[in-house]
Amino acid sequence: MTPTLLLGTAMWGWTTPRATCFDLLDRYYQAGFREVDGATNYPINKNPEDFRKAEHILLEWIQAHQVNDLKVMMKVGSINNLRTPDNNLSKSFLLMLLDEYRNALGANLDTLMIHWDNRSEEGSIRESLEALATAEKAGLQIGLSGIQHPEVYARLNEDFKLNFRIQIKHNLLHSDYARYEAFHGQAGFITYGINAGGIKLNPEQYREDSSLRARGGNTQAEHPIAAPLRAILQEANSKGKRPPVSSFNHCGMAFAFHSPDVKGILLGVSRLQQLEDSLRFYTAITTYDYQDLYQRLKNLYVQYAGKV
Ligand SMILES: NC(=O)c1ccc[n+]([C@@H]2O[C@H](COP(=O)([O-])OP(=O)(O)OC[C@H]3O[C@@H](n4cnc5c(N)ncnc54)[C@H](OP(=O)(O)O)[C@@H]3O)[C@@H](O)[C@H]2O)c1
Repeated sequence: MTPTLLLGTAMWGWTTPRATCFDLLDRYYQAGFREVDGATNYPINKNPEDFRKAEHILLEWIQAHQVNDLKVMMKVGSINNLRTPDNNLSKSFLLMLLDEYRNALGANLDTLMIHWDNRSEEGSIRESLEALATAEKAGLQIGLSGIQHPEVYARLNEDFKLNFRIQIKHNLLHSDYARYEAFHGQAGFITYGINAGGIKLNPEQYREDSSLRARGGNTQAEHPIAAPLRAILQEANSKGKRPPVSSFNHCGMAFAFHSPDVKGILLGVSRLQQLEDSLRFYTAITTYDYQDLYQRLKNLYVQYAGKV
């Protein structure tokens, strides 16, 4: 199955202003895409006043356009946006959130996903799975993200037989895929962080408000992976007869697109021009063969980070 796209909202109301979020949604929807990713704690900017701000922007857009065919994936469990691991995955709280988002989003709610779990204790995880089973029975898709002990979930799921979607960080520097080995070949994996938080091949492309800077990354120096990537791009672009690959973003997308079990790719676009660019490259990668590029990127990843 060709991986689909999902529009990310982690920076909405933080580095991405409301008006830009509206422009992004307008264009994304008009281009025929429907999947949007959210979380109760977006944006995670440590400002308690902004707790749930990203979802409020999304809801405003939905109400303004009277749309009921979006497919929103809501990640739940976090009880603040302070970047702490505090969350509540009790059955009653998850069922309350299921109600909350079904009321708020109506037919636009597509997936309910657990967001971050460090627990290893089977009894409490079983309770969370009971809540997800209720959501699945109600016709939603269900999922996992940021799970410390996937093997415990996989073991318990022998009883539940739930069909999970799993969000993983997956880029040229780091991938969570190996950690979810217990779900390989079974779950639909959705990649986030394909730009490793906003890395550019050329440091001159960073702006004052670059998201990598907001997240505390280094925007002064060229990233060490830039030089080997440029060599790979030069070779890939010499093949002709297909649109060129020209940025870290294109590489991240090509790497995710051909990776095993990947069913969705999260776009973390911060402006309209980036959305246009990503949609153009998505058309290219679904139309032309970029397997050779993927193989080269995979080799580079193994050199940098280890097992795919
Ligand atoms: N499950 C989880 O725990 C989890 C964690 C993180 C994120 N997510 C989801 O995944 C989404 C994406 O995550 P992320 O923001 O960390 O991802 P990312 O893709 O690694 O970084 C996004 C940044 O990459 C740059 N970028 C994006 N598209 C570009 C393009 N076409 N050309 C050039 N630069 C481009 C932008 O940087 P500049 O703004 O600097 O230009 C943007 O802010 C989030 O919005 C969220 O929905 C989920």
